[in-house]
Amino acid sequence: NKVVLAYSGGLDTSIILKWLQTTYNCEVVTFTADLGQGEELEPARAKAELLGIKPENIFIEDLREEFVRDYVFPMFRANAVYEGVYLLGTSIARPLIAKKQIEIAEAVGADAVCHGATGKGNDQVRFELGYYALKPDVTVIAPWREWDLRSREQLIAFAEAHQIPIAKDKRGESPFSVDANLLHASSEGKVLEDPAVEVPDYVYSRTLSPEEAPDQPTLITIGFERGDAVSVDGERLSPASLLAKLNELGRANGIGRLDLVENRFVGMKSRGMYETPGGTILLPAHRAIESITLDRGAAHLKDALMPQYAELIYNGFWFSPEREMLQALIDKSQEMVTGEVRLKLYKGGVHVIGRTSPNSLYDQELVTFEEGAVAYDHRDAAGFIKLNALRLRTLAQRRKVSGG
Ligand code: ARG
Ligand code: SIN
Repeated sequence: NKVVLAYSGGLDTSIILKWLQTTYNCEVVTFTADLGQGEELEPARAKAELLGIKPENIFIEDLREEFVRDYVFPMFRANAVYEGVYLLGTSIARPLIAKKQIEIAEAVGADAVCHGATGKGNDQVRFELGYYALKPDVTVIAPWREWDLRSREQLIAFAEAHQIPIAKDKRGESPFSVDANLLHASSEGKVLEDPAVEVPDYVYSRTLSPEEAPDQPTLITIGFERGDAVSVDGERLSPASLLAKLNELGRANGIGRLDLVENRFVGMKSRGMYETPGGTILLPAHRAIESITLDRGAAHLKDALMPQYAELIYNGFWFSPEREMLQALIDKSQEMVTGEVRLKLYKGGVHVIGRTSPNSLYDQELVTFEEGAVAYDHRDAAGFIKLNALRLRTLAQRRKVSGG
């Protein structure tokens, strides 16, 4: 039997690889994805070969475009934010990795899949809900919940016993855990565990601090079509290149740092630091183009549903009927969300300074304080207010009578 392992090429997943071979005595198939984490993939191939994986069992894929086009952008159409601040950078990558692992399992005839998430976090849930949703009879192996390697020393001893090369800086305990892709880099654990203590500077990898950012603002224009960003400063870009471009602009201007405490699906609170430079520009830009192209009823409905949609993604229910139903509603709302937004990026801040759209509902004639528009008669407002006040007046009347 065969198992498809989500393999980064790093020390931990290399230990998992060996552990699978020795514990389950099974043929291991490795899957390494480029999601824009900023690491070379070829070293992962070399390392897998070194650990005895047959070349035909090594799968390496560049998923950057698919990740942004089919996961990040659909999520941004909803303006999804978890608990008010988290842009879901890790959460949204998991379903894609799970899907690819299952596709490979089907292709090579494997009945099992394996991931390297711990037994305490959200990621185990996201991976496994994805696996089961796509292959209900799959066998899931989660080494961190199974093995008895309890400390860094034991892991290193296991690696040494099995001739797994260990980079010098990996011998000791890593100072914190990182997960990265094109949308964000997240850091958790160890030095970050005390939520009262400020995140040390060396944890940041994707952004300058606002203090270091230029004293001159950067002005940009983002073009949208049907809810998705398609251009920056008039240059049409593929989804992944566009996000990479926004990441560069965000990095240079100190944009997208977030220090938070969040509620994990498994029940505990955790403190993390996220850097989402491009996403932090994209969100207000998208809201700005929606502000002139969406009707109030449509805008308020999708806003009301957003926290639920975000929670579904956070909790790992991307492949669920309720997420797909919400997605259909959100996608429908985006039909007219086309146009351009101008922004000023300045020392960590993202400021919308203008928006235009061929589908704009904004009517200057209607809103102007100057006398104008025929569609709006001031006198109608008096009746409108009176009828809306009817309940309030009735209540006030009762208070007066009952003295309450
Ligand atoms: N807490 C974040 C989430 O659940 C990130 C988890 C992974 N991050 C990490 N540094 N291991 O989406
Ligand atoms: C992990 O547990 O592997 C990372 C943290 C999380 O998934 O919440």
